[in-house]
Amino acid sequence: MAYLLGLDISTTGAKALIVDHTGQVIASHTTPQPISTPKPLWSEQNPADWWGGIAASIRAALAESGLRGDDIAAVGLTGQMHGLVLQDAAGNVLRPAILWNDQRTASQCEQITEKVGFHRLIELTGNRALTGFTAPKILWVQENEPEVYAKTAHFLLPKDYLRFKLTGDYALDLSDAAGTLLLDVANRRWSTEVIDALGIPYEWLPALFEGTEITSMVTATAATETGLRVGTPVVGGGGDQAAGAAGVGAVREGIIGLAVGTSGVVFAPLERYAYEPDGLLHAFCHAAPGLWHFMGRDAERGRQFAVVARFTCAGRSFDELVGETADIPAGSEGLLFLPYLTGERTPHPDPLARGAFVGLTVRHSKAHMTRAVLEGVSFGLKDSFELMRAAGMPVRQIRVQGGGAKSAIWRQILADVLNAPLARTSTTDGAAFGAAVLAAVGAKVYPNVQTACEAMVQITDETLPSSHAPDYINPYALYRTLYPALKETFTRI
Ligand code: XUL
Repeated sequence: MAYLLGLDISTTGAKALIVDHTGQVIASHTTPQPISTPKPLWSEQNPADWWGGIAASIRAALAESGLRGDDIAAVGLTGQMHGLVLQDAAGNVLRPAILWNDQRTASQCEQITEKVGFHRLIELTGNRALTGFTAPKILWVQENEPEVYAKTAHFLLPKDYLRFKLTGDYALDLSDAAGTLLLDVANRRWSTEVIDALGIPYEWLPALFEGTEITSMVTATAATETGLRVGTPVVGGGGDQAAGAAGVGAVREGIIGLAVGTSGVVFAPLERYAYEPDGLLHAFCHAAPGLWHFMGRDAERGRQFAVVARFTCAGRSFDELVGETADIPAGSEGLLFLPYLTGERTPHPDPLARGAFVGLTVRHSKAHMTRAVLEGVSFGLKDSFELMRAAGMPVRQIRVQGGGAKSAIWRQILADVLNAPLARTSTTDGAAFGAAVLAAVGAKVYPNVQTACEAMVQITDETLPSSHAPDYINPYALYRTLYPALKETFTRI
């Protein structure tokens, strides 16, 4: 029996998950994490809180499992992507970490696009310059906090700060590195072209590893703080989306990961590097060695449901509200919902986009509105699928996870709108589970991620497209016309 430890530093919690090599969850503990918004658009956390939280979670998970540090074969790391941690030469953190959802860097994104060139940037890095990414944050610090910039000797991403605390090493896996906007994604190495254009010192760059490679071992100090064994191997791991995809077995082309949680994320593994020419999809390295992936990510569309429910049906539960929509016909009798309540990322990178109900008549009830929200969120996800299909991506099966996937009604709407089978897996621990899968490969329990997923991830049920799938063709076509028609109005609002 081999035991693996997955560590996940998300925006809300520091989670330690112990699983065995069959994929059975043995113990799990999460320490909540505070977040601060010192100014509008800012979003920061203190790396010391991450470390305190993860060390406490490791100790609690070990205690719950009855295992000792010696029993853990390897550790896998995952977490929120894109965040910037700056350290001086002695390893001291120089300022709070600037997180993925921080929006202060609009002007630095423009500078990057101008310096590298819009199309060249997308070709090299697989992405547009987005405010959430790491490179614009580095330029922001250079411009606004020159005293911090002058002292900087290293930069790290959130999970890799934990690696530093665990092992003393500066290392980064390729999936997370791709979210910095500094990676030559096709060649899986730092892009000298981008780094030179932005003037970022090469000495700051962490060493790069594949997600299953061992980067370093747990030190004596970290062992004392966590209860782990000195010398426990730590693998590269992956950004939360790439590790989450490994956690549901989305590690082959055609097997698509779909997360319907606070945000909706479509994750499509690629055998060869490809990019969407306008950067409407993200293209990143996968945490599974030698693979890449497309990703469509909305601006917290899942949360739209909760927000709309607050307007229309305060105090009612999600299950109650969704239950009422069962008798409403597909297409909500002509009512459409545009789910851009917090702006949009894929397929319209537009922070000024807004939500809208269109087509309301006296016939429509609250249940129609609820159903229109479920359908609008599903149409938004279909936009990402359509971009991927246009780029030549096969869709054989969708593996769905997240809170929204628990509803049978919503799963059926999704299977019909996307017109593809929707499978659920035995794993509900998302990214932390995926990190444990990567660790199992690093510990040589399995020869590769694909084999590890076959052994550790089981399909529990599948929702097939129903006879209503064609009923969504026209509503989706109408939905597609809404954003172009309303874009100017949104900007003026
Ligand atoms: C990925 C992304 C989020 C963050 C936080 O591009 O922005 O998934 O990693 O979860």
